[in-house]
Amino acid sequence: MNGSLGAAELLPDVHPAWLPPTAFRALGARRVRVVGDGPIADTVRAEALAATTAHGGALVTEDPELDLVLTGPDDDPEAFAITRDAAGTTTVTASGPGLLYGFHHLVRAGESAFQETGEHHPAYPVRMLDHWDNVDVHPVMGQVERGYSGGSLLYADGAVRPDLTRVAAYARLLGSIGVNRVALNNVNVHRTEARLLTDLLPEVVRLAEVFRPHGIRAHLSVTFASPILLGGLTTADPLDPEVRSWWARTTAAVYAAIPDFGGYVVKADSEGQPGPFSYGRDHADGANALAEALEPFGGTVFWRAFVYDHHQDWRDRTTDRARAAHDHFTPLDGEFADNVVLQVKNGPIDFQPREPVSPVIAAMPTTRLAVEFQVTQEYTGQQRHVCYLGPQWSEVLRFPFGDREVHTLAAGVTAVSNVGDDPFWTGHPLAQANLYAFGRLAWDPTADPDELLREWIALTFPDPAAHAPLHELMSGSWRAYEDYTAPLGVGFMVRPGDHYGPDVDGYEYTRWGTYHFADRDGVGVDRTRATGTGFTGQYPQPWREVYEDPGTCPDELLLFFHHVPYGHVLHSGKTVVQHVYDTHFAGVEAVERMVTTWESLRGKVSDDVHERVTERLVEQLRCAVEWRDQVNTYFLRKSGVPDAHGRTIH
Ligand code: GCU
Repeated sequence: MNGSLGAAELLPDVHPAWLPPTAFRALGARRVRVVGDGPIADTVRAEALAATTAHGGALVTEDPELDLVLTGPDDDPEAFAITRDAAGTTTVTASGPGLLYGFHHLVRAGESAFQETGEHHPAYPVRMLDHWDNVDVHPVMGQVERGYSGGSLLYADGAVRPDLTRVAAYARLLGSIGVNRVALNNVNVHRTEARLLTDLLPEVVRLAEVFRPHGIRAHLSVTFASPILLGGLTTADPLDPEVRSWWARTTAAVYAAIPDFGGYVVKADSEGQPGPFSYGRDHADGANALAEALEPFGGTVFWRAFVYDHHQDWRDRTTDRARAAHDHFTPLDGEFADNVVLQVKNGPIDFQPREPVSPVIAAMPTTRLAVEFQVTQEYTGQQRHVCYLGPQWSEVLRFPFGDREVHTLAAGVTAVSNVGDDPFWTGHPLAQANLYAFGRLAWDPTADPDELLREWIALTFPDPAAHAPLHELMSGSWRAYEDYTAPLGVGFMVRPGDHYGPDVDGYEYTRWGTYHFADRDGVGVDRTRATGTGFTGQYPQPWREVYEDPGTCPDELLLFFHHVPYGHVLHSGKTVVQHVYDTHFAGVEAVERMVTTWESLRGKVSDDVHERVTERLVEQLRCAVEWRDQVNTYFLRKSGVPDAHGRTIH
């Protein structure tokens, strides 16, 4: 798939997500010229042809109203400029994928785009989606680890799919929102998937070809034990010359097959994955060995900071999982090679509905960092619940660390993808909004997530009568989810293993380091320096003081940082236990309103989408009621404090 990319290939028979034909109305009604050669120009030309054919415009070679011009190489191939001349012609110029980004910028802006001028460039060079897809179906984790959208989009029957039409349509969606890198396999690298690096490489070549015309570079998750597993060596010691030469040879072969290959993603010494600790080496030694192999080709190692003791003894109150990434990695600041990016989860634990921002992000000034989000809704309703996460990610990216915001400290953003072979891509059709918002925030982390939601709705749903109700349904959905699940930042309380639905004590006596410490007097984790694990000390000023003191700690994070009595009064004026009751009732009521609002949209959205979302809302309501009742009953039994409003608690 290259120079011959045609309109039919762009528009196969799949759910159009945010690119239905109606989204191209303004652009497609114009006379459009595309100037330039190569895969990106071809993609833009095919888009312009499809749009103008649908809306009465034309693809022309002279006298355009819209001129899309690929210029010669310059420093910033992802940037684009829009100018307008006296005759009213709008011109977009770019030296690379910026042309595609400029095209889609105009699509999103509709009519108003043709009045504007200016320059645009992405805030981050790294805007990446990680697929946790396995080639084979894993006996426990299935085909997509933490995937809630059917099987893998990429693989079937133990190989890359023979027909990549849907993958091409997916690449098109990603390119339209500026995503520029994908990792093609799960960070937990099993046996078959390890071989993508060697004998299965021709399969990866096929995928890379499909992503390339959309400005997207392919990456592989690799196992640190590859030299043993694939190379027959007796060690994977990163300082061993034979190991280094194996990585160099293997990497050179990858680049011979895929010249624009992006690099490796590595989960090392984490949840059972092999890593440098086995050889008495540190994570800089490990990352740098792979970086050395990638460096001659311009490749990058995405090295994950998700390293903690997953065999903790729950009786041991001195170990705090929240501390782990900072404890392991900050001493290594300055020791990573230039082509290493340290990939840090947005919070210190694990993608909970509410966590503080990871302190690692502010603590490694001479290391390139990328923040990792979870678009797949492992802990936020598994794409059975509506939970628009744009506001969560926006809060993280705009979080002020001292006088700087996270987005000025990070070199990029990555996220775990939420798509699969589901006809709606994401299982829950409304979960497409999360994918969309991720790409748009990765381009501009200062964008208002609520505006992005409006933008997504307007593109995706042609009938304007659906827009306001949908916005009302979705905009507060993260808060609603937070309200009916674990309270005040304490986290987990999910069913162990699959992480769906409530089980308040499910993790309380396990090895995973995720405890809430509820007893008859109070609840929460003491992470203070004064009396707890000292985690608050990992933050710079002012946050180390703000979080240390329950009087200044924000309510929504109180139980993440403090163990407090049930009668502790929040800034809201309510006691902790009354807050638990109130939010759990309110969360269910919010879902009930979602059901009513969605019902009112029948006939205003397509029948298949209406039916699928209706089905999911039934489950969301059932599950929210279960959460409410289990959490409220649990705290009533522990505390003995009745609900001030006398509502039913079982
Ligand atoms: C979570 C998730 C795992 C995943 C891990 C990771 O713990 O439950 O399935 O492997 O994160 O990010 O590596």
